[in-house]
Amino acid sequence: MSRLVVLASGSGSNLQALLDASADGWLPAEVIAVVSDKADAFALERAQRAGIAAEHVPLADRRDPVLRAAFNERLAEVVAGHEPDLVVLAGWMLILAPSFLDRFPGRVVNVHPALLPDDDGAWVESSAGPLPALRGAHTVRDAVRAGLPMTGATVHLVTPAFDVGPVLAREEVAIQPGEDEASLHERIKAVEHRLLPAAVRNLLLERTDAPGPTPAATGGGTG
Ligand code: GRF
Repeated sequence: MSRLVVLASGSGSNLQALLDASADGWLPAEVIAVVSDKADAFALERAQRAGIAAEHVPLADRRDPVLRAAFNERLAEVVAGHEPDLVVLAGWMLILAPSFLDRFPGRVVNVHPALLPDDDGAWVESSAGPLPALRGAHTVRDAVRAGLPMTGATVHLVTPAFDVGPVLAREEVAIQPGEDEASLHERIKAVEHRLLPAAVRNLLLERTDAPGPTPAATGGGTG
């Protein structure tokens, strides 16, 4: 059974989707711990209710580079202490330092409430034609304000580049005429709740199926 550590800053509805998929036995993974930068994140309460470790790692001032470096170090220690196979960012609102990502290479997954392209480009293909790739913390608002016909959700591997990384899953959500940010975000989240567990599941199954190194190829033996 694979081990997941979930980082969440907010309500944790995506965390709940992972917990439910795991409890169903559909997701071959267990959420071992939830870590939040916010003491009052409802995600921490969800973790407690589920009987799993809930840890708060505070960051007093996100603009202070010294505090920020110490935070990334502490966060990496706390997460590594749970020996995760994957670290899942589920509504995590802070950019992680390369020093953090280096500790979990290719093992950090993010869910993003907009369509992201396969590369670091400024546009993403959709069934409504090319759309601007929305990055950052306000992509739902940005989509409404820009009057886009379409947005969506993307699950991707995290790299040091901001909201850029290999896409694991992507799904469109059409924006209804006159729709506000709150309503659109609820509909995007409903998609995320399916997309995130499915992408995590596929990734874990792919990695489990991947042939490991053969004894002859590993070398390093003494005899
Ligand atoms: C999600 O829409 C996620 O994509 C975004 O923040 C929201 C978090 O929702 N980064 P929740 O905390 O999982 O309910």
